[in-house]
Amino acid sequence: MTEKRKSIHGSWSGRLAFVLAATGSAVGLGNIWKFPYIAGENGGGAFVLVYLACIAVIGIPIMMAEVMLGRRGRQSPINTMRSLAKEAGANPAWRWLGWAGVLAGFLILSYYSVIAGWALAYVFRAAAGTFTGATAEGIASIFEQLTGDPERLLAWHTLFMVMTMIVVARGVRSGLEQAVRFLVPALFVLLILLDGYALASGAFDEGLAFLFTPDFSKISANGVLIAMGHAFFTLSLGMGAIMVYGSYLPERASIARTSITIAFLDTLVALMAGMAIFPIVFVNGLEPGAGPGLIFQTLPIAFGHMPGGALFGTLFFVLLVFAAWTSAISLIEPAVAWLVENRGMTRIYASVYAGIATWAFGLLTVLSFNTWADFKPLYFIEIFEHYTIFDLLDYLTANIMLPLGGLFIALFSVWVMRRNDSVQELDMGDSSAYGLWYVLVRYVTPIAVLLVFLNVTGLIELSGLSGQTE
Ligand code: PHE
Repeated sequence: MTEKRKSIHGSWSGRLAFVLAATGSAVGLGNIWKFPYIAGENGGGAFVLVYLACIAVIGIPIMMAEVMLGRRGRQSPINTMRSLAKEAGANPAWRWLGWAGVLAGFLILSYYSVIAGWALAYVFRAAAGTFTGATAEGIASIFEQLTGDPERLLAWHTLFMVMTMIVVARGVRSGLEQAVRFLVPALFVLLILLDGYALASGAFDEGLAFLFTPDFSKISANGVLIAMGHAFFTLSLGMGAIMVYGSYLPERASIARTSITIAFLDTLVALMAGMAIFPIVFVNGLEPGAGPGLIFQTLPIAFGHMPGGALFGTLFFVLLVFAAWTSAISLIEPAVAWLVENRGMTRIYASVYAGIATWAFGLLTVLSFNTWADFKPLYFIEIFEHYTIFDLLDYLTANIMLPLGGLFIALFSVWVMRRNDSVQELDMGDSSAYGLWYVLVRYVTPIAVLLVFLNVTGLIELSGLSGQTE
């Protein structure tokens, strides 16, 4: 048995704190902003089913693998991978997996912060009563005014990045644990309220049918990739966020139980958001495939018409900001932990460094919604024909980098790491539950990820070369 490492960054106060922090990382814009709009764009029910299957079969096992590697390595993902590779007698090049994660986190946060900025802006709009009595068109124009103005977007993006840097600089224990303890329950209460409004709206059945009646003719190979990519994105997998959080996890905590809890809460939030949004979409004759603006164009309608809407609307967007905030800090934590370990920086310097770089790159996303809205860098590849820089960044990270990262994490945990070590770390004994995990991570996950990739690569080639529609 190798000697246990200790993290120089400290640790969570206990298992509950880890569950809260990891849930805080998982529950974010992905659940409330992204899930509904990509489900809407990709035909609804069939997409949701593929997404749920990916969470169960790929997401949970990979989350367990990531927490396990983190807890065993007890360092930033880069150094964790380096140490664990050494311990297993494998090639030190595995540390590049850590680097790929840092890069993915950087790219994701650069646009994530811009969208979180929209949520910040909406806190003030809701509080000022801007939505009260407004029509669907009125609400849509409020959204366009915001995204059409690069200066405003920049201001909100800057504010959100500063908020993120402050929390990361203070360290994960003070502040973060407290915030999440309140956030997760409050978010549930507000979503229940919105679901209640949707239930009374008159189109609840239609909304449910859209989300839960699978029609496989409506989903493309690319749609399947997007569903799988989203399973990684929404659970924060494949880039080291969960790994670095796992590195602060106390020794005696069941990784399996913890991972299942986190995945369950995360999925619940996404489905509740979907059930609130689609009835509002249908009753107002809106387009389910409206894109990234979907929740900003639907939920304000509900707030504008329910009693106490200004108050609930404000609360909702405050919670959305919190949800995004607790995710943002986990996106940047792997980079910050590395800067502290290898560059000898204090957490404060490390956060400022990483934060400013991410902020600057975020300008590309700010401009994607206005000045450069017509700039479609990959217009010559059919499926990317209409993709702005923001769309491409989102596609590259969520659908390619995270699944690839997850694939290599899976490969490392069961092909490179010694079986004894994972038995010991997962602490389930050599039981049938362990056996199931092992088979899923060893065979099912890699094959599933590869199949989806191959399918889509074929699709891109076809559409790129012949220019035919799918
Ligand atoms: N899971 C977060 C969300 O759903 C986003 C995220 C992705 C956070 C990857 C960390 C790592 O919003």
